[in-house]
Amino acid sequence: MSRVKVMTIFGTRPEAIKMAPLALELARRPEIEALCCVTAQHREMLDSVLDIFRLRPDYDLNIMQPRQTLSSITSRCLVGMDDVLEQAKPDLVLVHGDTSTTFAGALAAFYHQIPVGHVEAGLRTYDKYSPFPEEMNRKMVGAIADLHFCPTPTNRDNLARENITKGVFLTGNTVIDALQTTVVRDFSFSDPILNQIEYKNRKVILVTCHRRENYGQPMEHIMSALAHIAQTHPETELVYPVHLSPVVQECAHRHLDNIENVHLIPPLNVEEMHNLMARCYLVMTDSGGLQEEAPALGKPVLVLRRETERPEAVAAGTVKLAGVEYREIVALANQLLDNSATYETMAHAVNPYGDGQACRRIADAILWHFGLRPQPPDPFGGQ
Ligand code: UD1
Ligand code: UDP
Repeated sequence: MSRVKVMTIFGTRPEAIKMAPLALELARRPEIEALCCVTAQHREMLDSVLDIFRLRPDYDLNIMQPRQTLSSITSRCLVGMDDVLEQAKPDLVLVHGDTSTTFAGALAAFYHQIPVGHVEAGLRTYDKYSPFPEEMNRKMVGAIADLHFCPTPTNRDNLARENITKGVFLTGNTVIDALQTTVVRDFSFSDPILNQIEYKNRKVILVTCHRRENYGQPMEHIMSALAHIAQTHPETELVYPVHLSPVVQECAHRHLDNIENVHLIPPLNVEEMHNLMARCYLVMTDSGGLQEEAPALGKPVLVLRRETERPEAVAAGTVKLAGVEYREIVALANQLLDNSATYETMAHAVNPYGDGQACRRIADAILWHFGLRPQPPDPFGGQ
């Protein structure tokens, strides 16, 4: 074999942000024919990322529907992938993380007996229903995959406990590669509200929240805690780019509309998001990606979940699990807003998730696997 045909498959915003730099890296390698298929499980939020990275997919399944169910996403992806894989016949399919697109993409490749590489492999909470459905998605993809690209040693050890030791590479997370291209000193925001904020004098709290297991009572608690925090801390500006899910939109607007220092804005493109994060005081989120990005930028994070599959930044002291109870969330936010010693302890930059070289390592690992490179890549962190 002198050239290998590699197809990346992704569909949601975070997969796109973390796969775009890899798709571009694969396309730069002369030994790789790089193909890209998007399911468009997200439509607008995906397109925004494709625009920023100037990535043009070869295939677009365009499956998104309003208030889509897990079964509808999975079945529409699976059926759509059939034709694509039949036509393109890749030597390797790459999927990312733990979404429904990830699971359906891996399953479709398996049905066509095409090897699968799993990017962001080995994250675990060991709770089947939290995050839901992501924990089972990534476990099922782990069972299907032939190559496993683990961001951290913890992720690699998780796979070893499941007896997955072959084809495992320690690469770092591609999100750090992405982050290194987006943050700039004199960034100008397209949203006038964001340009007007005096970041040095105001404490900007950056919020995101979207997880399915938080729908219902946990999200009610989170939103009312956010309203209380903003109302009792006039020195803050709470900036919340609201996910386009109608469930989230409804809950966020019901609790947070008409509070002077709360800004509910549409989703930001990834450059605006990273630059806002770089300028904020504190991040409050249930997102996976933000838990990786904010520590790299030295920003404390309160995680609005009961558990996390990303324990590394918790251990490093920049991330705290705040849970989903009103009292605990308010108490932890108060500490960070009122006690500068607590804040300073958490506000230091750490990079447990990557060094910006993950895409290079993944491309090298693929070439080595197919006999197109003499040695495997150096592991992230040298371990
Ligand atoms: C999905 C992933 C989750 C990931 C998240 C990232 C699954 C099961 N969940 O959850 O792991 O953390 O993406 O954001 O794969 N919508 C739009 N436009 C968009 C995007 C979404 O209108 O560009 C609306 C649609 O009504 C859609 C709803 O949001 O039905 C929910 O989207 P969906 O992909 O089902 O779930 P997420 O909560 O986004
Ligand atoms: N993000 C973005 N705009 C937003 C909110 C998030 O670009 O308005 C980025 C964020 O910086 C991170 C990724 O989207 O890179 C996280 O996606 P999300 O929270 O939707 O999913 P998760 O990481 O929880 O799976």
